[in-house]
Amino acid sequence: MSIREVAVPGPAVAAPSVRRVDVFAHRGASGYRPEHTIESYRLAIELGADIIEPDLVSTRDHVLVARHENEISGTTDVADRPEFADRHATKVVDDREVTGWFTEDFSLAELRTLRARERLPQVRPGNTLYDGLYQVPTFDEIVDLARSESFRTGRMISVAPETKHPSYFASIGLELTGPLVATLQRVGWTHRQAPVAIQSFEVGNLRDLATRVRVPLVQLTSASGAPYDLAASGDRRTYADLLSPSGLREIATYATWLGPEKSQVLPRDAAGAIGAPSTLVPQAHAAGLKVVVYTVRAEPQFLPTNTDVRGELDALIAAGVDGVFADQPDLAVASAERARAELGLLTLGAGRPRDLRVG
Ligand code: G3P
Ligand code: CA
Repeated sequence: MSIREVAVPGPAVAAPSVRRVDVFAHRGASGYRPEHTIESYRLAIELGADIIEPDLVSTRDHVLVARHENEISGTTDVADRPEFADRHATKVVDDREVTGWFTEDFSLAELRTLRARERLPQVRPGNTLYDGLYQVPTFDEIVDLARSESFRTGRMISVAPETKHPSYFASIGLELTGPLVATLQRVGWTHRQAPVAIQSFEVGNLRDLATRVRVPLVQLTSASGAPYDLAASGDRRTYADLLSPSGLREIATYATWLGPEKSQVLPRDAAGAIGAPSTLVPQAHAAGLKVVVYTVRAEPQFLPTNTDVRGELDALIAAGVDGVFADQPDLAVASAERARAELGLLTLGAGRPRDLRVG
């Protein structure tokens, strides 16, 4: 991704007349390859994304690996591996009963013997061609990929890890923050300008991280419910409460980004159509937060009923978002480039040093 700066559509935001739209490659280029594999991240970089997104969980020996959830039967071949049949279990994770195989019951060496599979074979049958080829990567490997790809391409490749179920992992003695910070320290990525942004749906671990590293943090929010850690501690605040003007100002004390569901920016009507944007983006900007929405996916079942993926991306950019998580990062890159071109604003001359940090 080159720097993508597009026009701010109106004066509602106290912002400069140009701005960046960052593309976060959601689980890599997960629209084209099994998610959370080195090959998925590498393809995302090849397609123009400068930010790759691993979700992080822990192994039994406390190594962070990239999976969307700790239950791995949907994204690996573990169910077909008789040597691990006795690891099948039912657990309660964030108050939800889950049955399957869990990363915390496998050493890294054991997990390495598994192979990744496409999560959505009905939706993305082409991706099943890659089933069985790729391993589950560690966070260390992903960071090293970003560093080597930055060197190879001359672009600064950033990493936006999401801590998955941080309270749960802490409760079983495998807290995520320690190994996450250790990896960042290994590569010197703990300062404010480091090419990293750490995400969480919980609040407490982000607040803790804010005391331990200076990198940008992303407070994710859901269109319903409450952060698990707040609810578990008796704090009755919901995600909706976090998005009030005072809630946003509070988030801005520890985070750089707000990461809402895209429907919180572009609400859908009963028929699934998008229309006018909500006031969330200007309110977040007023609180000093940048906004990155999740998740744009090109397949029809994920799209609004009244437009296509280009229309949805264009509408999000017009609504003022600063970033977008996308399963097909090339499409988001194209929309950001097109917006910049159509709006006729700042472009960078060839050879100008790029500033692609996610902060
Ligand atoms: O982290 C942004 C987005 O990825 C959050 O949703 O469930 O895909 O991790 P999820
Ligand atoms: Ca995520």
